[in-house]
Amino acid sequence: MSQDAHISPTMVVAMSRFVVANRMGDQVKAAFLDRPHLVDQVPGFVRMEVLIPHDEPEEFWLMTWWTDKDSFWTWHRGHTFGESHRGIPKGLKLVPRQTSLRMFDQLCR
Ligand code: HEM
Repeated sequence: MSQDAHISPTMVVAMSRFVVANRMGDQVKAAFLDRPHLVDQVPGFVRMEVLIPHDEPEEFWLMTWWTDKDSFWTWHRGHTFGESHRGIPKGLKLVPRQTSLRMFDQLCR
């Protein structure tokens, strides 16, 4: 085992944030609760959580855990990403420039 093996991240987390512009947050919540679960079978996918901040009920933080970042980007580019989003409520509008996607190493838990 290499000397710094203990500081290698065990997992990566993709954190995606968006803010609904047209008060359709409840429909987005319903869509997440009824999500298609396609991603659950994707190689490298570990789990996901959806968080809504107390001070902004139309804002969503979507966290997905992956064994490695390549698995995430392969899924993100692939067709199951689009299929997973087919259930997005029609007419949904997001606040411009408040959408972000960042990758994190999970150092410990
Ligand atoms: C680019 C970063 C994004 C990532 C990594 C991401 C990831 C995911 C994942 C993993 C699921 C679950 C899919 C499944 O169960 O198979 C999901 C579902 C969903 N996402 Fe996203 N998403 C992103 C962007 C967005 C944006 C910008 C919106 C809003 C316009 C959105 C809205 C939704 C909704 C409403 C669902 C649940 C309904 C459905 O899966 O059909 N996502 N997303």
